Amino acid sequence: MSKHSQDTSPADQLSALATHYEQAQHWQLSTLFDSDSKRFDRFSFEAAGLFLDFSKNHINDQTISLLTDWARACQLEEQRDAMFRGEAINTTEGRAVLHTALRLPSNAKCIVDGKDINQDIQSVLARIDTFSAAIRSGSWQGYSGKRITDIVNIGIGGSDLGPAMTCAALRPFVQTDLRFHFLSNVDGHDIDAKLNGLQPETTLFIIASKTFTTQETMLNAHAARDWFLQNGSLSSLAQHFVAVSTNAKAVAAFGIDTNNMFPFWDWVGGRYSIWSAIGLPLAIAIGMQHFREFLAGAHAMDKHFQQAPLERNMPVILALIATWYRQFFQTSSQLIAPYHQDLQLFPTYLQQLEMESNGKRVTRDGKAINSPTAPIIWGSAGTNGQHAYFQLLHQGTDAIPVDFITALKPSHTHHQQHQALLANCFAQSEALMRGKSEEEVRIDMQAQQQPEEKISALLAHKHFAGNRPSNTLLLEKLTPTSLGALIALYEHKVFVQGVLWDINSFDQWGVELGKILANRILSELEPQAEIGKHDSSTSGLIAKARQAS
Ligand code: F6P
Repeated sequence: MSKHSQDTSPADQLSALATHYEQAQHWQLSTLFDSDSKRFDRFSFEAAGLFLDFSKNHINDQTISLLTDWARACQLEEQRDAMFRGEAINTTEGRAVLHTALRLPSNAKCIVDGKDINQDIQSVLARIDTFSAAIRSGSWQGYSGKRITDIVNIGIGGSDLGPAMTCAALRPFVQTDLRFHFLSNVDGHDIDAKLNGLQPETTLFIIASKTFTTQETMLNAHAARDWFLQNGSLSSLAQHFVAVSTNAKAVAAFGIDTNNMFPFWDWVGGRYSIWSAIGLPLAIAIGMQHFREFLAGAHAMDKHFQQAPLERNMPVILALIATWYRQFFQTSSQLIAPYHQDLQLFPTYLQQLEMESNGKRVTRDGKAINSPTAPIIWGSAGTNGQHAYFQLLHQGTDAIPVDFITALKPSHTHHQQHQALLANCFAQSEALMRGKSEEEVRIDMQAQQQPEEKISALLAHKHFAGNRPSNTLLLEKLTPTSLGALIALYEHKVFVQGVLWDINSFDQWGVELGKILANRILSELEPQAEIGKHDSSTSGLIAKARQAS
């Protein structure tokens, strides 16, 4: 920490960073490694069971010092503590942000407005425990007396991505005689695909919606109820439909007994809700003991985030490096590359987490932000991506920072595949960083006795500029505990970036306009309905749809 970083303004720190960038933009990553044999040791550390190597980045000690000074000048530590204390930091909605309370140990206290909210949290967890155990053991039966075999979660956004991603990620821990399905899209094709082959008598529907008003979820929940009632009776609905929501009134109006409702609270944001009753499918899938390990893994990361110095604080370091690129190198996207097939949905999960949280253009006070904010988050499981879009990473015109994520120990016995997976993961970050000079290409081609004419023609095509940055995150193994820590790591990374940009990371007003217009257009799609005022494109498309119906 430089002497007065807490007394200087974020603008001063940014201008110091801008000056530093003048040099940093010319650094070659390969030279940084060649000139410092200890670089890996200096720019890597372990936290909450995760290991982060951030050495393949355009940073040196001064960069980290300037970036952490910037974070201090933005009062990161004070704002972090305010979140954990339960202050209403989601100012546009007047709400506290307390997903971290959901993963507190059962005996911890979390006093908000004079009340220990952990008592409510633990009592919902106890209900989840009882219910999930009943489904897993078969003591909870469908209307014909058979046990439940298929669980369909109906929800969207945070009420879908968390359960879907975690159930996939923890596949080896899932009870084998239970099948999980995730119906999210308001698209009949999705309904048909997901309900196809299911038997109403052995199917449980979990209707998951914080608000219980989301159009997609409500339409799909009604479709599921109609499908069920073709065989089951209204009186047996309670054995087959449960709800997870904050809105008891709407749950009752839908026809679900509120005894079968698992509540959560308005201080849990949708994209931060996997730790709440929204995690019910996961608890059923992996059992309560594993679900508690999942919460404990996240709690370990919370502690690290609260206690570690900023220079050795994993979410802080991830956030500072990502923001360094976005703000100064003007990178426009960030690739998430999990080299673990079970994490295939993790990039999609992070899309909502980062882009819905920090895809904003005004500060908390509503003033325009003059720098780029959240980048585009994208990605898929490696090695598949290597045979699809990695070409662009290596030789395209944009530099795209990558987070490689892998596990040192697999949950399978295919040793050769595991070694090949790790080799590919490590090779990609090395290739991106080091590249291949024209001279090296020439030497290779000459060694293969290629004619000079061919060498000249291909030199530019086979050249890799390199100097492309990445982080590598290593998990010992993908388990409930390490997955919990991994998700919490990115949650806090998003929080830190929100502080740096002075964004409210916990609202999502940007999704509202489309919802309102969709409702208007929905009524206009009816054949006789009057079509309101639209541009010619939108009116033309509505007319096309009406002609086709
Ligand atoms: O439309 C965005 C959003 O509000 C997300 O933030 C949320 O996760 C999703 O919709 C689903 O909302 P709900 O759980 O209320 O159905």
